[in-house]
Amino acid sequence: MTKKLSAVLSKSSSLDKEAVIPCSYDIIGDIAILRLLPQGEEARTAETILSIHKNVKTVLCQRSKVAGDLRLRALSYVAGENRLVTTHRESNCLFSVDVAKCYFSPRLNFERLRVSSLVGAGETIVNMFSGVGCFSILIAKRAEAFRVFSIDINPTAVQFMLENVRLNKVQRRVIPLLGDSETIIKNHLQNVADRVLMPLPEKALACLQPALSALRPSGGWIHFYGFEHARKSENPVEKSKIVVAEKLWSLGFEFEMPFSRIVRSIGPNWYQTVLDLHILSGPRNLINSTRICF
Ligand SMILES: C[S@@+](CC[C@H](N)C(=O)[O-])C[C@H]1O[C@@H](n2cnc3c(N)ncnc32)[C@H](O)[C@@H]1O
Repeated sequence: MTKKLSAVLSKSSSLDKEAVIPCSYDIIGDIAILRLLPQGEEARTAETILSIHKNVKTVLCQRSKVAGDLRLRALSYVAGENRLVTTHRESNCLFSVDVAKCYFSPRLNFERLRVSSLVGAGETIVNMFSGVGCFSILIAKRAEAFRVFSIDINPTAVQFMLENVRLNKVQRRVIPLLGDSETIIKNHLQNVADRVLMPLPEKALACLQPALSALRPSGGWIHFYGFEHARKSENPVEKSKIVVAEKLWSLGFEFEMPFSRIVRSIGPNWYQTVLDLHILSGPRNLINSTRICF
């Protein structure tokens, strides 16, 4: 859950609205994480959040951008119980997570639901960047997927994924795998998948070839998440489509892009986008290959 404090306060009559600094925050389980707040203002804002959200027990403040291969951020304790582990409820699933040692974003909730609604019965899925297993577990619980190979390179995230698989009783369908997804696909998961998830925009283009190699020779689906810069006059989704299409053409694949959208804005003129790629076949002889329009 992502909230703007000013919006929450406008619905509350009993709090001193003048005394509160506007900021946005995420709630993960019973932990609130403040963002974009000048140091020194946290304590007052934290008390307000604790009084508005009775379920929030801990308030932390984000001290750095999400960064590095593991997509982690620096957090500091502000108020309430001093801890980092919580259990988040989303779409009838439970996700246990250490918010400092694992990536987790409640903002991807809609996207996780959207992708899970597309999965057909009996599908084999490879999730290349699973974190604590949110996409994989939601798919296993909501769709009739046969199995979800759920990879992450962060040992702590995989520990929590194992716990979450147990919590949600999907042991027979979700297979957590620790390691680099490109290496795991190359060694163990070639030509197995009906669908591949790539929820790591920073590496998506570089990892497109391994993702394609995980698909069955008859093709399948890739959910490709990217970051795109776009000025006011530009469409970030169209820009992203061109980059990915050129890559797929260069690799000799036939494809369609039947769905795409902006997932969220991540800064001035920067967007996270998703493209649903329907890979029809490939790789083909480049000279004879047909270009498919989207
Ligand atoms: C943006 S997070 C994924 C979020 C997750 N899908 C969710 O819904 O919460 C990206 C994840 O990719 C993992 N990662 C980064 N490089 C990787 C690699 N080469 N192979 C496998 N996992 C990797 C990180 O540890 C991180 O957990």
